[in-house]
Amino acid sequence: MSDLMDKVKNILDEAGVKYEFTKLPDDITMEIDVHMKFHGKDIKFAMANIVLKTEKGLVVVQKRGDSQIDNKKLKKLLGVQRLSLANREEMEKHGLTPGIVPPVGYDLPIYMDKKVLEMDEIYTGTGDRLYTVKLNPHDLVKITNPNLGDFTNLSDKQSSGRVLSGIRATGRLHLGNYLGAVKGFLELQDNSDYQTFYMVVDLHTITTPYDEKVLKESVRNIIIDYLACGLDPKKSTLFVQSMVPEHIELAYLFSTVVSIARMQHLPTFKEKIKMHPGDVTMALLNYPVLMAADILVYKAGLVPVGVDQEPHLEVTREIARKMNDKYGLNFPETERFAMPGEYVPSLLGEGKMSKSVEGSYINLTDDLETIKAKLAKAPTDSGKGGSVPEKGGVAVILKFVELFQSKEKRAEYEKNYVGEGIRYGQLKEELAQAIFNELKPIQEKRKELEQNKEYVDQVIKEGAEKARKAASETLNEVKKAMGLNYFENN
Ligand code: TYM
Repeated sequence: MSDLMDKVKNILDEAGVKYEFTKLPDDITMEIDVHMKFHGKDIKFAMANIVLKTEKGLVVVQKRGDSQIDNKKLKKLLGVQRLSLANREEMEKHGLTPGIVPPVGYDLPIYMDKKVLEMDEIYTGTGDRLYTVKLNPHDLVKITNPNLGDFTNLSDKQSSGRVLSGIRATGRLHLGNYLGAVKGFLELQDNSDYQTFYMVVDLHTITTPYDEKVLKESVRNIIIDYLACGLDPKKSTLFVQSMVPEHIELAYLFSTVVSIARMQHLPTFKEKIKMHPGDVTMALLNYPVLMAADILVYKAGLVPVGVDQEPHLEVTREIARKMNDKYGLNFPETERFAMPGEYVPSLLGEGKMSKSVEGSYINLTDDLETIKAKLAKAPTDSGKGGSVPEKGGVAVILKFVELFQSKEKRAEYEKNYVGEGIRYGQLKEELAQAIFNELKPIQEKRKELEQNKEYVDQVIKEGAEKARKAASETLNEVKKAMGLNYFENN
């Protein structure tokens, strides 16, 4: 038991209030929703104690688990301009630890959201990771006499568990797309806590030179790949980006809070202009803003994408914060959902697997012979040495072994490398077979789907309808907050 928890107990005893400590399982994670599931109670019975930093110093904010802080309202109440989460170091100076702040027992100003007082019991932290305390918040008010305020919005239950992602229609899907993105799509689709939206981003596809005669076919092919990989329109909304024009409208509104310089300095923009120096367009500059709109029009909290997309998610979070601060909106701080294949290297031994680098990729539609031929070209060495290479062709091959066979298999090869040596011929043969075993059922399903035009059409049409319904709600909310609603219903 921590000293702080002892102190909390003493304060509650001295005040003579009723309370109950509950021990949590040793292996429990820190998330409030996990704790509330353990207690068998709705998340609205949780009270979070959050330490925030302002230009006037630290404050503790107490709010219900089902609500989100409205930065604008809280800043007004506190009379401050700046508000951010306190870091570990700042908290430790007050004897506190992130994630397990108790409701009493420290010398910091406390601000309690009034929604807490709608409950007659709440579960909250104790200063010890493994205990929760249940008490009546009205008793707490008598002890700490907090500043009471109205500074949260109820979380939109429907949107808080939303997931969105997309892939450009620049060619056939390769193993990078599959391992870095689609496998994450599948994992989240099959988790009932999430509502999943997956699209083909045709509007992002046209930000670099493309052939308008084949675009439709390429877009359709990705939808077919999604279905073949196991995305299920009964569980996920599958759609084409341009069929949901709300994305574009929101992107325009977002562009009012984004500076040109910020976009010009993004590494992804710099890479693209190197590749297409003659086509540096406004659409290319605007690429990350449209991506932020794709995500935030659904208020998606999680985005399964490869690590190369992190700079775009950073922009998305910045836009969300600016819109929340400026217009009192409640966009989430979107996080990336990372998979073990978040960075699939190029078969050539340098850089990542990419559609734009010939020889770097294996497509989902490749047959066993093609996979073997592509692996055969991957550069290797003598198969023996003092230490296992961390870069280049050998490192790539071992990464593939890990991703398609197992970590154990990789460890075995690593042992061989520093011992009797690796025979790459056999290694590549087994690896090709392992890759093909994963792709074969996808290819078979794809063949079936190619014959079923009507079904694919229906998926695309119904997906757009469902997506538009969700997207238009956010767009209307934003327009209203920005003063662009001229009549009640627009
Ligand atoms: P795109 O089409 O370049 O790539 C699609 C997805 O595949 C992942 N990926 C990789 N992952 C691991 N290793 C690799 N070698 C590899 N190559 C590609 C990418 O990280 C991505 O997840 N900007 C996005 C499309 C987009 C989007 C969105 C994504 C537009 N709006 C909203 C998510 C949410 C892109 O260019 O993907």
